[in-house]
Amino acid sequence: MLPVELRTARLVLDLPVEDDVERVARYCQDPLFEQFLTTPWPYTEAHARGFLTEHVPSAWQSGSELTWAIRTESGGRLIGVISLRAAGREVGYWLGDEHRGSAYTTEALGAVCAWAVEHWPGTETVTWRANAGNVASAMVARAAGFRNTTTATTTVPGRDGAELEGWSGERGRIPAADAVESWVPLLGGAE
Ligand SMILES: CC(C)(COP(=O)(O)OP(=O)(O)OC[C@H]1O[C@@H](n2cnc3c(N)ncnc32)[C@H](O)[C@@H]1OP(=O)(O)O)[C@@H](O)C(=O)NCCC(=O)NCCS
Repeated sequence: MLPVELRTARLVLDLPVEDDVERVARYCQDPLFEQFLTTPWPYTEAHARGFLTEHVPSAWQSGSELTWAIRTESGGRLIGVISLRAAGREVGYWLGDEHRGSAYTTEALGAVCAWAVEHWPGTETVTWRANAGNVASAMVARAAGFRNTTTATTTVPGRDGAELEGWSGERGRIPAADAVESWVPLLGGAE
């Protein structure tokens, strides 16, 4: 399929391109990525170039994974990445460290969910998984209207292929009535 551009009040979500190599390489060297993501580690500029010039365009073309750059203006610098896999309609996201704490990820996630349930045939629900303990990621999912679906057997794939303890959530067209409440066991009460 052809790349789709999405806009929100503060963000433009569009195709990540080779010009974004330096930023992707720098942001993906954040130690949090070693802990919580399956991106290569240590992360190099060659990884970023392969991701941007090979993985991203071919996955859009096949429809296996739709990946957007998060920018604050059209043609602006990449501040993060959000993606949606065909398998399980599972989202993934990260934001460069200096851009966190402004609810940009929540805004991007809301736009991707809204687009997917409206325009990507076969999307009834969007799913989310993270390593158990990734509180920041879970707070973003909660803020974007996901319902916590974590059970004692929820896992996520680790970098070496091992299954690790995980957290999970899902969101349909509109947030479930018990969505916010469902996170209390993991995150405590919403502030
Ligand atoms: C997860 C991540 C994308 C959050 O980015 P962000 O832009 O700061 O998130 P937002 O500003 O949209 O924050 C949404 C909520 O999470 C909270 N939050 C964000 N980072 C947090 C942190 N480190 N600890 C606790 N809460 C956090 C915010 O306070 C906000 O809470 P609220 O809804 O109660 O107001 C970012 O921390 C990141 O890139 N982490 C590394 C990669 C990663 O783990 N990705 C997820 C893999 S599943």
